[in-house]
Amino acid sequence: MNMQTVFAWNDSYLLGHAAIDETHREFVELVEALLTVDDAGMEEALAAFERHAEAHFEQENRWMSLDGFPARDCHVDEHDKVLASVREVKKDLAAGNRQAVRELAVALKDWFPGHADYMDSALATWLVRRRHAASPLVFRRNAVTPAETPAETTVETAG
Ligand SMILES: [Fe+2]
Ligand SMILES: [Fe+2]
Repeated sequence: MNMQTVFAWNDSYLLGHAAIDETHREFVELVEALLTVDDAGMEEALAAFERHAEAHFEQENRWMSLDGFPARDCHVDEHDKVLASVREVKKDLAAGNRQAVRELAVALKDWFPGHADYMDSALATWLVRRRHAASPLVFRRNAVTPAETPAETTVETAG
């Protein structure tokens, strides 16, 4: 069994929206499992990834269907393409093609940083702004992350 980490979480993937970031950590863990799993565990690792991807994309798609989100279609399309590939590869695996799973895992690893950077980051920023627009700004000691800190906050200096 290959114990070397191939796809590790990197804080550069953080987008500043707690729920998205948590889901993305799970995505990285499950793709890593898919990259390193032995043959015996492959079917379960693929099924676990599929369950994750369905919930992950469903949640993002639902957020994007909220009023006022611009440019939803490309993002939903990418999710749909990934899910279609996963389902295709499930059939391949059932037919004995393990290589298809290895290739899918590598493709997911390569796909994620760009998708997160361009598409999910736009969604995360929109969600954070929307939340701030809908409620008064309140600083909660443990709840403010750097990306949630309003840009217009300034420090008043005396004199
Ligand atoms: Fe995502
Ligand atoms: Fe996404």
